[in-house]
Amino acid sequence: MEKKKRVLFVCLGNICRSPSAEAVFNYLLEENGLEQEIECDSAGTTAYHEGEPADKRMQGHAIRRGYRLTSISRPVNPKADFDAFDYIIGMDDNNVWDLKKMARNLDDLRKIHKMTDFATLNGHHSVPDPYYGGADGFELVLDILEDTCRGLLNELQK
Ligand code: 4NP
Repeated sequence: MEKKKRVLFVCLGNICRSPSAEAVFNYLLEENGLEQEIECDSAGTTAYHEGEPADKRMQGHAIRRGYRLTSISRPVNPKADFDAFDYIIGMDDNNVWDLKKMARNLDDLRKIHKMTDFATLNGHHSVPDPYYGGADGFELVLDILEDTCRGLLNELQK
């Protein structure tokens, strides 16, 4: 059997976007019976919310679509995470920039992507930070993640 593929979703605080990406992607993995082939985790570029569960507003919007956010916030651990994961995926340009600064070499750099690189629908170039906005922002995060997680899964199955 091929080596298990590992994906790390990364945002700023690891309490809104990347825990949602993890939950949406896990839902797809389960739906497609791929849990043995692919696994994912999430982390933040900061430790501001380390040890906290996902933001209550994000949890509320997610659960209405059937996604339970279970992850606990942790910061990226550059050495361990670049060694352990094959795809390290930031939600916006700031996340990608911060990840690039953590990369140790070309192999690390090649693992870094932006979530919207996997979009199948046009129109969004990042997963916008919903933290200081209203309900629409959380819904938009989920809309973009539902599309981009499907695109990512297609890419991994190529
Ligand atoms: P996330 O959202 O990066 O999607 O988890 C945020 C969470 C916290 C903050 C900003 C964005 N913050 O400034 O504390």
